[in-house]
Amino acid sequence: MNIILLGPPGAGKGTQARRLVEERGMVQLSTGDMLREARTSGTEMGKRVAAVMDAGELVTDEIVIGLIDEKIHAGSEGGFIFDGFPRTLAQADALAELLTKNYTTLDAVVEMRVDDQALVKRITGRYTCGDCGEVYHDDTKPTKVEGTCDTCGSTNLKRRADDNEESLKTRLMEYYKKTSPLIGYYYAKGDLKPVNGLQEVDAVAREIAQALG
Ligand code: AP5
Ligand code: ZN
Repeated sequence: MNIILLGPPGAGKGTQARRLVEERGMVQLSTGDMLREARTSGTEMGKRVAAVMDAGELVTDEIVIGLIDEKIHAGSEGGFIFDGFPRTLAQADALAELLTKNYTTLDAVVEMRVDDQALVKRITGRYTCGDCGEVYHDDTKPTKVEGTCDTCGSTNLKRRADDNEESLKTRLMEYYKKTSPLIGYYYAKGDLKPVNGLQEVDAVAREIAQALG
């Protein structure tokens, strides 16, 4: 099964993707994570996209489509979770082509609905483990021991450079302008499954499980 998690910054895409990986053995393809990895490893592409990401703007379609192409080609038995991709109509068309080329299909698009006020709170309180990728929040999901990851024991906890109110404003504008048209695009294809992302994490996970069947 291949699915897209579609939603604004902070909607909980990464959080739910990690659960689907654990529960269903699917492979998470987060273009945000791939781009951050490219930055950390200092590749030429990583250097080029750094300022764009920190400002909250979208990087070019060509770059992200290239990243996804490689991964789909490698294949996955449990299927893919596309997290943060596609984000433009051009990316959505490219994904359809790539899936066809690799003899597979898209099964569902989970649209995670969360209002802007909640998104600001989620983004400004978020931190992640730099070693295992576990996602935390100052208020709703702090680590049990301050400064130490519950999952892997690492003390390498980080905040993202684009998780500030200024960049978030741009990220939201980019979402409404370039990504939200995908809601209508997938609705017209009959693939859209809207989910109330404002509930607590377990309740959102249950609604997604129901939607996927
Ligand atoms: P990306 O990394 O994809 O960021 P994003 O879409 O802005 O999404 P986030 O990772 O911020 O949020 P999320 O929905 O995963 O929420 P999370 O689960 O962490 O992209 C970053 C940048 O890369 C882009 O701005 C762009 O520059 C570039 N980029 C990436 N993909 C691209 C593409 N395809 N095309 C062009 N450019 C691209 O949760 C957030 C917080 O809320 C956490 O603290 C979590 O603990 C908490 N939380 C989660 N669920 C709940 C809940 N149900 N209740 C309460 N708290 C919750
Ligand atoms: Zn960890």
